[in-house]
Amino acid sequence: MSHHLLTVDSLNRESVDHLLRVAARMEPIAQRRQVTRVLEGAVLGNLFFEASTRTRVSFNAAFCRLGGSVCDTTGFTFSSMAKGESLYDTSRVMSGYCDAIVMRHPDQGSVAEFAAATNVPVINGGDGPGEHPSQALLDLYTIDKEFQRLGKSLSGAHILLTGDLKYGRTVHSLIKLLSLYDPLRITLVSPPGLEMPSKLIDLVASRGHRIEQRDSLASDFADLDVVYTTRIQKERFTDEMNESFQGLSDDFMVNRDFLDHRCSQSTIVMHPLPRDSRPGANDLNLDLNGDPRLAIFRQTDNGIPMRMAIFATLLNVDKLIEQDLRPVRWYVPSQIGTLDR
Ligand code: NCD
Repeated sequence: MSHHLLTVDSLNRESVDHLLRVAARMEPIAQRRQVTRVLEGAVLGNLFFEASTRTRVSFNAAFCRLGGSVCDTTGFTFSSMAKGESLYDTSRVMSGYCDAIVMRHPDQGSVAEFAAATNVPVINGGDGPGEHPSQALLDLYTIDKEFQRLGKSLSGAHILLTGDLKYGRTVHSLIKLLSLYDPLRITLVSPPGLEMPSKLIDLVASRGHRIEQRDSLASDFADLDVVYTTRIQKERFTDEMNESFQGLSDDFMVNRDFLDHRCSQSTIVMHPLPRDSRPGANDLNLDLNGDPRLAIFRQTDNGIPMRMAIFATLLNVDKLIEQDLRPVRWYVPSQIGTLDR
């Protein structure tokens, strides 16, 4: 694994399995049962030039839970980029202040350009429609944990990716990550014009996976293990697409009816979130709230141990975790959410 995490392309089966194992060891800390200080004195620079809630906050919280501190910058308006500073200069400046940097930026390739100017580890928190490798790692970690609970194996699993597969960077990283594993069955369903880039389809097929494209969810998915839904990324549309796109029709709706009638009792539902809950958006339906198959909040919780594992591995403290554990002393509820099961 390189000293940056910019793309899933820098990972192999061995480095991914290592991160999954380290994340599992982080669970007692992420679940607020134990405390560690292995990153005491270290400073994270969190640079977010695009909207974010969970990625920014969970990277921040993960670094703090390892004992480090965080400096946060949000948006262009309050950064020197608004004064015309280059990515190179910003990168070199930030590297003098911080021991690791997470960056999200609207332009594909920008985080790699930023990383080229520094030897301090840089993590891509999302570069436009490009990649989002830490999200894919926490998604894989979630699939792995859910499958262990259900007594399933990843080998031969059937995974559906649906929604905006063209601009959704989480699915770009996830499909590449999944393709490192034993042959899978991957089905892609997206509205016309928002299909998965063919380069990625070809790559996954060349690695021996069975990949199929369908034009709606109105068919049988009885053997489906995972449905991974994504938001329509309207902010990345061209003017032409904005004019022609009529909104998502019912044919793409993931709701209780779809799950009860087309899938099975053990199909889990994932989404990188945020889901667009405005009327007419037809994103992942709220009628699944409280259904145990809905794994979206277990998925967001998993962002903490996985992001801790990424920091610990890149900063080379992954072997020190167990040496430094102490029990938590403050009040922690036994269930985090009121609908959690
Ligand atoms: C996603 C993103 O920003 O790429 N969110 C996330 O990081 N969990 C998905 C999205 O914005 O739709």
